[in-house]
Amino acid sequence: MIQLEGLHGLTAIIGGGIAGLMAALELAPQPVVLITRAELGQECSSAWAQGGIAAALDANDGPAQHLADTLRAGDGLCDETIASGILSKAQDAITILESHGVRFDRAADGAFAFGHEAAHSHCRILHVGGDRTGVEITSALTRAVMHCPSIICLTGVEARRLVTSDGRVTGIHLQKDGHTEVLRTAQVIMATGGCGGLFEASTNPAGNFGQGVMMAARAGAALRNVEFMQFHPTALDTPQTPLALVSEAVRGEGATLINQTGERFMAHVPGAELAPRDVVARAVHQVISDGGRAFLDARAALGSGFAQRFPGIHALCASNGIDPALEPIPIRPAAHYHMGGIAVDKDGRSTLSGLWAIGECADTGLHGANRLASNSLLEAVVMGRRSARDIAGRKMRTLQTSPDPDFLPVSNLSSVRPLVSQHLGVIRDGMGLRRAISDLLPLVETGGCASDPALVALSIAVFADLRRESRGGHCRSDFPYAAPEAQSNMMTLSEILIHA
Ligand code: SIN
Repeated sequence: MIQLEGLHGLTAIIGGGIAGLMAALELAPQPVVLITRAELGQECSSAWAQGGIAAALDANDGPAQHLADTLRAGDGLCDETIASGILSKAQDAITILESHGVRFDRAADGAFAFGHEAAHSHCRILHVGGDRTGVEITSALTRAVMHCPSIICLTGVEARRLVTSDGRVTGIHLQKDGHTEVLRTAQVIMATGGCGGLFEASTNPAGNFGQGVMMAARAGAALRNVEFMQFHPTALDTPQTPLALVSEAVRGEGATLINQTGERFMAHVPGAELAPRDVVARAVHQVISDGGRAFLDARAALGSGFAQRFPGIHALCASNGIDPALEPIPIRPAAHYHMGGIAVDKDGRSTLSGLWAIGECADTGLHGANRLASNSLLEAVVMGRRSARDIAGRKMRTLQTSPDPDFLPVSNLSSVRPLVSQHLGVIRDGMGLRRAISDLLPLVETGGCASDPALVALSIAVFADLRRESRGGHCRSDFPYAAPEAQSNMMTLSEILIHA
């Protein structure tokens, strides 16, 4: 049984990463239900973020430079107004995080210690504990949520479907230990994270297959630019699932990329190892597709200082028998961040009345075709707060909804992952995309255990098939160039199915 007595009518937030936690805190003292699949602070991508949070707070830096870098990396698809609005809130975001007890690393003189990451023209990545930024921010916000009396946490509970009536949200089907119940609510904030778990090689929690995108699409909300998946070039090359990340901040400190013969294969590319992430991911993919191996070499740049600057990554390497001070780290690309998602406006409102979306499951327009490193934690904080403020001004209401939810089979990724990995990876082509669509469609239609992940994968494949160009994270060998004009694509599930 899920105890829902007294909770009907309250705003519900699905997902307990940084975006969801921030929204819940910002709504206080208005009561809110926070629904998480795992225990609070566990199994969310936010906690795995190593590099940090981008904030142009240095005296020689500013939101205008940060915006220019974001637009350049986004390859024509960023919404400039949205991006400018989010990036200019960096100071507020850092102040609010500090007020919740986050202690960003500082230099000896007390000034922020800014790190560097790819495609940033300035050192502007704030970090905590070297490479523990995500886990430290998530822990601080989790503590604050646990002490906040207006936030009711439903942990170990999975949201499976939105309920709608007359074109607006009226509830959520929740599932726990085989029981399904409906929480009646007219206001839902989706903060469920990304869909990297659809891929065999991924840096995301294995169970993240795009649940928020799936629920929103099934309920009628429009999706935007979901073909844009960011592949991180430097996941630690081990047989594990998911793969551990070796932060881009390591390259920011001067580490180089080499192949199996020791050749620095990015040396002649503009930006070299700090070229935009899509460019570096394709280069690493190419080395490996050609039968070679790729390594991150931090010996000269960091040497024995590696453990102090990157304690978490050092421990990770050590547990795999690698000493980054003495030997290159074996790496490979992995699905890392979903740039497209539920189409939302500047307040996180989706096209479906009563549904907001924030964090990785949403497409605000900040990231465009290729997210600039460490912009996502900033977006999570800013959009978490904005969506909460947008909701806080509204009158809460309870709507009637169907009392008897259908039984929903538990999602299973095993038949979807091989298709996604083969056809929707770093390099795509029309034939592979059509094959993915024809193999995924029956899985969606059976309504069986593969149906939910298959629906997200199908959406990515259809958007990717329709985008007959290469841009940012979407690279097609049959259309290797960008179209003269960058164009965002937006579709509802019915439109996706017409194209499938
Ligand atoms: C990294 O630390 O390389 C990841 C940062 C990010 O994805 O923003």
